[in-house]
Amino acid sequence: MTTAANEHVATDARAADAFPVKGMDAVVFAVGNAKQAAHYYSTAFGMRCVAYKGPETGSRDEAAYVLESGGARFVLKGAVRAGTDLGRHVAEHGDGAIDLAIEVPDATAAYEHAVAQGATGLEKPHVLEDEHGRVVVAAIATYGETRHSLVERTGYSGPYLPGYVAADPIVAPADRRFFQAIDHCVGNVELGRMDEWVEFYKRVMGFTNMKEFIGDDIATEYSALMSKVVADGRGKVKFPLNEPAIAKKKSQIDEYLEFYGGPGMQHIALATNDILYSVDAMRAAGLEFLTTPDSYYQDAELRERIGEVRVPIEELRERGILVDRDEDGYLLQIFTKPVQDRPTVFFELIERHGSLGFGKGNFKALFEAIEREQERRGNL
Ligand SMILES: [Fe+2]
Repeated sequence: MTTAANEHVATDARAADAFPVKGMDAVVFAVGNAKQAAHYYSTAFGMRCVAYKGPETGSRDEAAYVLESGGARFVLKGAVRAGTDLGRHVAEHGDGAIDLAIEVPDATAAYEHAVAQGATGLEKPHVLEDEHGRVVVAAIATYGETRHSLVERTGYSGPYLPGYVAADPIVAPADRRFFQAIDHCVGNVELGRMDEWVEFYKRVMGFTNMKEFIGDDIATEYSALMSKVVADGRGKVKFPLNEPAIAKKKSQIDEYLEFYGGPGMQHIALATNDILYSVDAMRAAGLEFLTTPDSYYQDAELRERIGEVRVPIEELRERGILVDRDEDGYLLQIFTKPVQDRPTVFFELIERHGSLGFGKGNFKALFEAIEREQERRGNL
């Protein structure tokens, strides 16, 4: 593992030149009612609405609300009339992510590199301009109907993109942010196609495998999924990829694929520096989290592995927060229930203390909790 990790570091240095990224630009959602979704993310996620476009600003087909929390940006898009592709997307998939937009220093170079490496181009690089400056945007396809916009915004000072106007917060913003950034965005792909998409990110973006993966060992017994993580050389953009695994019960990935109607983004992990506060604030606002059995916290082997963390285990137990530790440190994490009627997209809160992992050690406890929810929905 050490040798492999060193090789990855060496590969990272080369890859960074081929497809440099600055970070996530935004996660763009297609939703049934963007106005109400914007309210939900303002209250339950403590986000602040900063920009808007819609019929009033010349956007005849769709309304879009841009919400931020620290470095995290969500764009919520809804159709304002019948017969749009956005509306078709929502009818087919329900609310979900249509675009994991990546900020790049040079969108033209990024697009050309991606297409030369076999990516499907969806939008050639083009300039968008208004009084705040200039943005270059291009887009390539990834799994399912999801895309990666490539956004070059160094010459832009507006609230989001040309075409959007500054907007007021929808509700009085919370005193403290509930979270600070997007940590990772996870994709669910079809059975047997995870490695293909891992290769896609390696080839097209120069991303490399992070060491954490879920293989046959965990897959068959509890998780019924296989998972690998690709990331850019500096770990600014991290995309875990899941595929269903054959197990004794129906995979949670199969459930997603069935109800979403194909591959798509499964969850976004939001980075917080105070997960106790985040969970309390979001739960008070009505967000539902997965529960964790008390046995998780009482398990002697687990407590031994976890060791000392910054808060008493009791505080974590009260909230159902999970802990995982590896050689680099530890992390605290918790998962929400799906945030729309379909059992598809959900969120994670993650507080990292050195660990670069994704909570592999929690998969057993976590999936037992998820399976209880699946059983209640009759989908197990
Ligand atoms: Fe995650």
